[in-house]
Amino acid sequence: MKHIFTALLFMFVNSLVYTRAQPSPENSNDEKFKVNHGPYLQHLGETEVTFVWTTNKEAVAWVELAPDDSTNFYNTERKKYFSASHGLKNVDTIHVVHIGHLQPGTKYRYRIFSQEVLSHKGIEVRYGEVAATRVFMRTPPSFRTNDHQKKDISFLMVNDIHERNEMLKTLLKGADWTNTDLVLFDGDMVNSSRNEEQMFASYLDTAVQLFASQTPMYYARGNHETRGEFADAFAKYFPGPNGKLYYMFRQGPVCFIMLDSGEDKPDSDIEYGGITAFDVYRDEQAAWLKEAIHSKMFTEAPFKIAVAHIPPFRGWHGEEEIANKFVPLLNEGGIDVMLCAHLHRFVRKDPKPGDYNFPVIVNSNHSVLKAKADNATLKITIVDANGSTLDSVTINRR
Ligand SMILES: [Fe+2]
Repeated sequence: MKHIFTALLFMFVNSLVYTRAQPSPENSNDEKFKVNHGPYLQHLGETEVTFVWTTNKEAVAWVELAPDDSTNFYNTERKKYFSASHGLKNVDTIHVVHIGHLQPGTKYRYRIFSQEVLSHKGIEVRYGEVAATRVFMRTPPSFRTNDHQKKDISFLMVNDIHERNEMLKTLLKGADWTNTDLVLFDGDMVNSSRNEEQMFASYLDTAVQLFASQTPMYYARGNHETRGEFADAFAKYFPGPNGKLYYMFRQGPVCFIMLDSGEDKPDSDIEYGGITAFDVYRDEQAAWLKEAIHSKMFTEAPFKIAVAHIPPFRGWHGEEEIANKFVPLLNEGGIDVMLCAHLHRFVRKDPKPGDYNFPVIVNSNHSVLKAKADNATLKITIVDANGSTLDSVTINRR
């Protein structure tokens, strides 16, 4: 009798577990599966690149890479690089695919793929539609890896766009993308970070339309990106090569030091709701910078450029922090120029010995900084929204 009771109890409990394990209804969203944002390139290096894009439903994702030879993309099975972690494909709506072991200065063609995951129960995974870059009768998108031996480079910098898509379009209008190696975003592209849709709608979709799926963009976070309930997602969309938002990279004759200047007021300010810890974060960056300025990538570069949203002019807490924690190291490293933003007006300061031993250029919120560098000369021009040149500075190799 006891055994019968135990068996009945087991069947009852098991039926409860089974009920709870019933497959949940499939995604009730009837919208067709699609890539809704991106792709855009992140931390392009000499031997690596990362692709980021999103889909409207959860999916697995991969990139196919093809050499820039004369073969049709369909000529052969192309190598697949999956969005995966620890051997398992990621199922998500944001897709981040990192590819390493590439050749420097080499052009590659690519396609992105996502396949909807309808359900995953036990060992059974059900898949839905595939969304991919169309390459039939179309030129596939491509990119070229960085190369420290490249003789000259050309780059652009915009900042403080503050969600003004039209201003971004105006400033980048007429850019010669075939000869532009990279774009710097020097922060405050948004007013605040509220959600994914707002981030794409406010500037990032425009960047993708204009250049970002084929020309790399390197982001120095501004203080406005740090505000809002979506701020902590920033690194997911803009992953630095070292997993940080401060990093360095080399392209042609220039080594770029990308710094994250944090907020402009003390961490205790009422505007931050007690959620920031930037003083400690800037200490952490300074410790990294101390090592970075002695690295081969930095010391061997003919030109060294620091990029930070907040300038080191002192006055507000953020500026004091940059001046006290970063500038002495940038002086020690012998940087050629510091490119900043934040003030919404153009400012050019000559070196101020004893403070900053290099020129500081602050681009405004309605101008684009255009630069060209070779092994001997770095030429920077500031052009406003009307196409007029505001200033031009030439820095010769020391
Ligand atoms: Fe700012």
